[in-house]
Amino acid sequence: MAAATAVQTQLAAQQGTASKVISGVTKVTLTINGKEQAVSVEPRTTLLDVLRYQLDLTGAKPVSMDSSSGASTVLVDDQPMSASSLLAVACVGKKIRTVESLGGDKPDAVPAAFVAHDAQQCGFCTPGFVVAVRAFLDKHPRATEEEIRKGLNGNICRCGTYANIIQAAIAVVKGGK
Ligand code: FES
Repeated sequence: MAAATAVQTQLAAQQGTASKVISGVTKVTLTINGKEQAVSVEPRTTLLDVLRYQLDLTGAKPVSMDSSSGASTVLVDDQPMSASSLLAVACVGKKIRTVESLGGDKPDAVPAAFVAHDAQQCGFCTPGFVVAVRAFLDKHPRATEEEIRKGLNGNICRCGTYANIIQAAIAVVKGGK
């Protein structure tokens, strides 16, 4: 009952509508990588589930459901957040960007630097780190190595590729991108 109340409150606040009870499967529209996407969600559906299993955006990874790994990091209104611990209904009306928005024919400077600095091993943490580095450097474009290390402390790499990840971030700062 408490969860339903929370969902009801979130939707009402975000849509500017009268209070609305959500139960079962409901269609909502999410703005993801600049596109409006109609998706079907239950109150319990996470943003990560929608990205991976409805939209085939599989960059964000289901490593930890408690946000402790950072592997599912996406940008929500330019803030890095764990898609695994966000309810999809809480994202209605927000701008979501996934790691896929940083790729393509002309990749963003951050994933390009990860490639240049061999900043991955198994690659499972990499999309989350790429998004986290992009978000951090957008706010701190002249960050020092120490600041970058502190700024990325919400992301974990089990392969221990930290040294190369930090070098990639430093290269982006030096390149002014
Ligand atoms: S490269 Fe394997 S967990 Fe980071």
